[in-house]
Amino acid sequence: MTKFSVLGSRAAQKGSTKPRARRAWGAPARDVYTIKSTRSRRPACFRTRLRLARRVSGHTYASLMKYAEEGRVDVRISVIGTGYLGAVHAVCMAELGHEVLGVDNDARKIAALTEGRAPFYEPGLADMLVANVNSGRLRFSTSLADAATFAEVHFVCVGTPQLQDSLKADLSSLYAVIDGLAPHLTRDCLIVGKSTVPVGTAPTLAARIAALVPDGITAGLAWNPEFLREGFAVEDTLHPDRLVAGVTSAADDVVLRAVYAQLLEAGTPYIVTDLATAELAKVAANAFLATKISFINAMSNVCEAAGADVVTLADVLGHDGRIGRRFLSAGLGFGGGCLGKDIRAFMARAAELGVAGSVQFLQQVDAINTARRMRAVGLARELAGGSFADVNVAVLGAAFKPETDDVRDSPALHVAAVIRSEGAVVRVHDPKAIDNARAVYPELEFVDGPSKACEGADIVLHLTEWDEYLELNPAALLHLVRSPRIFDGRNVLPLDKWQEAGWTVRSMGAANITEPQT
Ligand code: UDX
Repeated sequence: MTKFSVLGSRAAQKGSTKPRARRAWGAPARDVYTIKSTRSRRPACFRTRLRLARRVSGHTYASLMKYAEEGRVDVRISVIGTGYLGAVHAVCMAELGHEVLGVDNDARKIAALTEGRAPFYEPGLADMLVANVNSGRLRFSTSLADAATFAEVHFVCVGTPQLQDSLKADLSSLYAVIDGLAPHLTRDCLIVGKSTVPVGTAPTLAARIAALVPDGITAGLAWNPEFLREGFAVEDTLHPDRLVAGVTSAADDVVLRAVYAQLLEAGTPYIVTDLATAELAKVAANAFLATKISFINAMSNVCEAAGADVVTLADVLGHDGRIGRRFLSAGLGFGGGCLGKDIRAFMARAAELGVAGSVQFLQQVDAINTARRMRAVGLARELAGGSFADVNVAVLGAAFKPETDDVRDSPALHVAAVIRSEGAVVRVHDPKAIDNARAVYPELEFVDGPSKACEGADIVLHLTEWDEYLELNPAALLHLVRSPRIFDGRNVLPLDKWQEAGWTVRSMGAANITEPQT
């Protein structure tokens, strides 16, 4: 009995099924599974594709085929890993009408989710979680065996952080999920990787699945990378820019289309490709975004040296439609759980593939980014009078970016910790991330309002651009601080107003310290 259907090897893709599938699906010339920006078909066409999938694939998914033949496209889904990616994905899949089981080995997280409490802050998530738990469409469990018996589609959303002693990604959680899931499967299913992985991971997982699934069970593997941004995760999941389906068979494509039927109906571009391209899509996108940020930060250094202004420069560049203004905001640079670790894992993987030189520039991207944090410390020290010893510092912002409570690799906290190590007394405020920040940096003092942070401060550092800080009243804060000096590490504060109110201001990527207007 074939345990795992692999139509996706190059040989298989070049096989006899190719012309038939291309003709039937109207795909352009490249290969059987490359269909560009295809809009969803309604159930009648969906049924046609199912019939074709049956003919061209080595396997079918009986229950899904039946649903689709009845005109239904609700699917029984498990989402394994309920972190920033998985919890949002589980809730959004239920919102789309699927029956969803979210699984995690963190019992506390599962208990919270089961009670309808989101384990982290993400705009729009809390209400949607409650609604879907109450509807009965969304449940949670700590058991992979539960998932194995329940679902027809398993989304794997576990973390792939950087290994402690290398640039590589740690894939151990991913393997643990496969090892815990595959032996318990009691029904045919599609396992869909969403985690960010080094290109070439999927075939190893496929072999592992093949070795572990019980006889008589068909378990396919597809790759469907997630491009969501924290802070916009719900919006990005329900209204994505594009969907990428890395598949090895027509049947797997049909299953993914059933899962995303509503999004396809709304016109979301849907790109079908091989597993390797799908894996690479996520890594390459993040490498590009990181490069764009480091590019403008490099320009920021040049602006400081040349007496130019990086914000205006970015505006000018951004008006060029080929460049675009997004991700050209100079400042403290990128942090978070993705960009940094992804470009490092990409460099490690490229070296394994013998193409290290092709992505060597990412070393520079990483170095420019890290240097921004030390540059911010230097500029703030200068503004503070040359030393932080016994200086009271107010830090506004702890999350790695606004609209999240995520503090992983937060540039703001990194700067705060360095400044404290230089002898400053540091008080940190953040609207959402204080609990997470305290857990990582217990040595810092945390307060529950920006005014509290500013009381008696010799210098104020604006390090994460929450809207709340844009609306601060500089005249009111003037009376709280010991010395009115503000450093804007994100280049978004209306510094002219602060200056008018009597503050000495400094930003990143502009020539000089600007004294208050008299
Ligand atoms: C990123 C990718 O955008 C997303 O597609 C992928 O799925 C996961 O990684 P995220 O980490 O949530 O998402 O944050 P993002 O909005 O990309 O910001 C990353 C970092 O770059 C933040 O620290 C942000 O402050 C910084 N940034 C962003 C800049 O410094 N300048 C910019 O112009 C844009």
